[in-house]
Order: sequence, then structure tokens, then C-alpha cells
Amino acid sequence: MTSRPHVLLSVAMSVDGYIDDMRDARLMLSNEEDFDRIDEVRAGVDAILVGANTIRRDNPRLLVRSVERQQERVRRGLARHPVKVTLTGRGDLNVAARFFTAGDGDKLVYTRDPAVAALHETFGGVATVVGAGEPIDLDAVLDDLAERKVERLMVEGGGTVHAQFLSAGLVDEIHVVIAPFFVGDVSAPRFVHPGRYPQDCGHPMSLAETRQIGNVVLLRYVTSAAR
Ligand SMILES: NC(=O)c1ccc[n+]([C@@H]2O[C@H](COP(=O)([O-])OP(=O)(O)OC[C@H]3O[C@@H](n4cnc5c(N)ncnc54)[C@H](OP(=O)(O)O)[C@@H]3O)[C@@H](O)[C@H]2O)c1
Repeated sequence: MTSRPHVLLSVAMSVDGYIDDMRDARLMLSNEEDFDRIDEVRAGVDAILVGANTIRRDNPRLLVRSVERQQERVRRGLARHPVKVTLTGRGDLNVAARFFTAGDGDKLVYTRDPAVAALHETFGGVATVVGAGEPIDLDAVLDDLAERKVERLMVEGGGTVHAQFLSAGLVDEIHVVIAPFFVGDVSAPRFVHPGRYPQDCGHPMSLAETRQIGNVVLLRYVTSAAR
């Protein structure tokens, strides 16, 4: 039995817990120094996972930016960039999205078993489509990633994905960056959806680190899943 990957969840949010606003332009919740820290974290993982809505809304590249860090990965016998991973039920993704086009590394699309054939038709040339149950079972996703030699997985949002991994008790470590402003729009996405979380007030996480990074602060928590 291969053990499931270590799961590191990374998020940047406003003081009032929002991870975006409702404007078209991307909301910057971090600064350059923190983006470089995130780059370092990315360089240290085997795979990065985002939900399909984050691909539709932000069109992220999900690559290691620093050439030195890419070269260091190659020296360690790894691909220059971590594997990119997404979850989708509907499969309504653009093959021209940077998730698929940026970087030469592997891309994995996990979906519901009944959707695999149709999604393979659409994405087969640019990604590997994998069935993970009906509905998608995150334990099956993590087992499959472990089979693919993913030992460290970085989950980078959005709120729907965060909520599922956290409520299922599948997160070992959380990196929360707090930006120095409020969003205050109830229709904007939040860090997580309301729900039951194993890390409730009776089972608090360990605060492993606080770090000021310019005008933002990083809080690093270790959950009981990792203890
Ligand atoms: N500040 C940050 O750190 C940060 C980071 C990332 C994203 N964001 C923001 O987060 C927002 C997006 O968050 P979101 O909650 O709307 O979406 P999301 O979590 O990015 O993606 C949700 C989508 O992923 C797919 N999905 C997730 N779990 C699934 C499951 N168990 N089974 C089947 N499909 C599943 C579904 O795709 P289909 O609809 O295709 O079925 C679902 O609609 C954006 O505004 C983005 O800017 C912020």
C-alpha cells in the first residue's frame, strides 16, 4: 500500500476571509516577495491541484517561475515543474487554458467515472483523464496520485476545493496569507464554505509559524492529520 501524499493547502485571503472579489480583474492578495515564497513552496512539491473554477476564473500557469529552482529540481531527478492536477465534474474547461498549455509537465484531470470517455475525447491530447468514482472520491484521487509517485501535493484553491479537502480531514499543513484589506462582499468567494471541519474549536491546529512578508502575514498551521 502506498501512503497518501502529504497535503499542503495554500491560500491568500483578505482580513475578512475572502479569496477574491467579484470584479473581472484578478484581486492581488499577495506581494512579490510572497509570490517568490509561493514559488519556493511549489518547487518543493510533486503536484499542484486547483479546482476547475480557478482555471476558468484565474487561468493560472501553475509553474515554478525561478529558473534556478527549475534547475535544482532537475538536479534532484525531477521534472522542471510539478504535475498539474484539476478536478471537474462537468469538464467545461478550455483546452487553450494555461493549465494545459503552459509548461511541458504532466497534467491530470480527475473526473466522475461516467464522464471519463467524453473528457478523454476533449482533453486526451493535452492531459491524462482519470476517473475517481461517482461522485469524485478525494481518497481515490490521493491514492491515484500516490501511485503516480506524488509524495507532496500542494492544493491551491479555490474555496470549493479547500472546503472538501479540509472537511474530509485530508490536509496536513495550511499556509494562510492575510492581505491587509477587507473585501466585504457576501457574494465573493471565501477561503472555505460553511460546513463541519475536523479542525474545530475542540480540535485546534498547531500554529507552526508566523512570518511577516512585507505588508502581508503568513500563518502556517499543522493539522492533527499530520501529527
Ligand atoms: N486567494 C487564493 O489563494 C485563491 C486561490 C485559488 C483560487 N482562488 C479564487 O477562488 C475562486 C474559485 O473558487 P471556487 O470555489 O468557485 O472553485 P474551485 O474550488 O476552484 O473549483 C470548483 C470546481 O472544481 C470542480 N470540483 C471540485 N470538487 C469537485 C468534486 N468533488 N467533484 C467534481 N468536481 C469538483 C467542479 O468543476 P466543474 O464545475 O467543472 O464540474 C467545481 O465547480 C476564484 O475566484 C479564484 O480567484 C483564490
